[in-house]
Amino acid sequence: MHWSLAFIAAGSVGIGATAGRRRLLLSQAKHRSLAGHSKWSRRIAGLIPRVDYDAAQFFRCDGAPDGVVAKREQGFERLAHLFAERFPKGRALTAETRAGLSDLQFTGSYRVPFQFARHVKEHLGVGAFTERSAGVTVTDLDGNDFYDLTGSYGVNLLGYEAYKGMIAEAVAQVADLGPVLGQLHPVVADNVARLRALTGLDEVSFHMSGTEAVMQAVRLARYHTRRSKVVRFCGAYHGWWGDVQPGIGNPVNADRTFTLAEMSEKALQTLATRNDIACVLINPLQALHPNSAAPSDNTLVDGGRRAGADREAYAEWLHKVAEICRERGIVFILDDIFTGFRLARGGAAEYFGLRPDMVTFGKTLGGGLPNGVLIGRADLMKRYREDRPVDICFARGTFNAHPYVMAAMNAFLRKLDEPDTRALYDGLDDRWNARAARMNASLEAVCAPVRVANLSSIWTVTYQVPSRFNWMLQYYLREEGLLLSWVGTGRLIFSLNYSDAEFDEVVTRFTRACERMAANGWWWHAPDATDKSIRRGILRELIAKRLSR
Ligand SMILES: Cc1ncc(COP(=O)(O)O)c(C=O)c1O
Repeated sequence: MHWSLAFIAAGSVGIGATAGRRRLLLSQAKHRSLAGHSKWSRRIAGLIPRVDYDAAQFFRCDGAPDGVVAKREQGFERLAHLFAERFPKGRALTAETRAGLSDLQFTGSYRVPFQFARHVKEHLGVGAFTERSAGVTVTDLDGNDFYDLTGSYGVNLLGYEAYKGMIAEAVAQVADLGPVLGQLHPVVADNVARLRALTGLDEVSFHMSGTEAVMQAVRLARYHTRRSKVVRFCGAYHGWWGDVQPGIGNPVNADRTFTLAEMSEKALQTLATRNDIACVLINPLQALHPNSAAPSDNTLVDGGRRAGADREAYAEWLHKVAEICRERGIVFILDDIFTGFRLARGGAAEYFGLRPDMVTFGKTLGGGLPNGVLIGRADLMKRYREDRPVDICFARGTFNAHPYVMAAMNAFLRKLDEPDTRALYDGLDDRWNARAARMNASLEAVCAPVRVANLSSIWTVTYQVPSRFNWMLQYYLREEGLLLSWVGTGRLIFSLNYSDAEFDEVVTRFTRACERMAANGWWWHAPDATDKSIRRGILRELIAKRLSR
């Protein structure tokens, strides 16, 4: 062989070997769950047939004896009657609106595991409409009051009254200008100054949702690093834009996104050895359930939900990631849209002691109005190159920096400085950890196989028995006047204005709901049942259904 050909051949073997090693490392850096393998999860999702339990299968799908089945049936029927009596107007308007509102159809169908969904929807329909809020409660169309545990997707940090006040203030402040766009209301200048001071970062851009703020962060990271790959961690939510939402839910492959395992040496090695990674996205909420997606009752098919925050261990992990990003020129993006201002006044950066290159905020920062904000280092936020005037990174948005939103945001930022708000952050974690402990002690006292796990005021409910019916708890909680979002017991979000007395009332009602549920036989399980055996049983049902076609 000519020497140069031999050289090229040897070189390409070397390159091949390196590429092979990198690919191997990448596959080792993924979490072993399906959530860690986006393409596989989508493929498998496409194979799963619909199984609907009829009334008979519904109550005895786990092989419960007749006595237990009878209790479940009575319990279910009682709830069905109660809901029909209590929520007539709300249910009627929901039914009427559903046909024309896709979102309602979706959330209404995915409250519980799909096998049970049809029967539940038919008999335990709940209203989707609310009319009023006051303190920590909301009132539905039929005049029922609920303690709000939804937190309005995390927006409600300071209590609804505070946001009503901020919105009213905002409307008054910009009334003379109205919805003039493109030009800025002077309040924007103050927002920029406050956000810079709060984060220690240089520049701000305003967007209309959290999803868009994340899109802009990733786009800028790609522009400045001239690399295309994005790293997000297994289970982490960063909005519904395709590139950050690979796997089930996204109709196409997110080919430029790597989903790596959290708390993983291999993931760190991947970051340390690849040259194509533009940025790493961190959602601090993962501290509550590393490597798992946001828990939802529609995937609660057994008792396998696990959660528990270890602040120090998670901080250590984040520091390692940040360090490697710094060394490798990878943009470290802290997506603080959910956790911002909730874990600490200075956001998750303060809580975990981080210095991110970019931070995204949203939700509560808008003072109750829709928003998304990106704050970052000047060199990363720049949308053009001094020496290449046509090579720009384009980003606009009709409603960016909308005067009403900016004024409500300003009201929120000013509120953060008020002594009463500052006081909320003193001992915040201790307060909410103590409240979680109080809830758990109450549940333990009545032998309920239920516990809560929390990251400050963000909670999830876990179950100690391998039951196929753990998701039923959301309906017993509703009976007790506790309002959950459509993901059910997967996510409870408290506003910080809950007084001890109000919180104690929630504990009392929560505990009573568990007692009722236990009495109705839903937590019965065969002595040899395990979460694994339940999942195997479900798999068998699905295969049988698929083969029967
Ligand atoms: C961490 C995180 N990033 C991004 C988003 C998307 O924000 P939005 O729903 O405003 O688009 C969310 C929403 O829940 C979020 O929790």
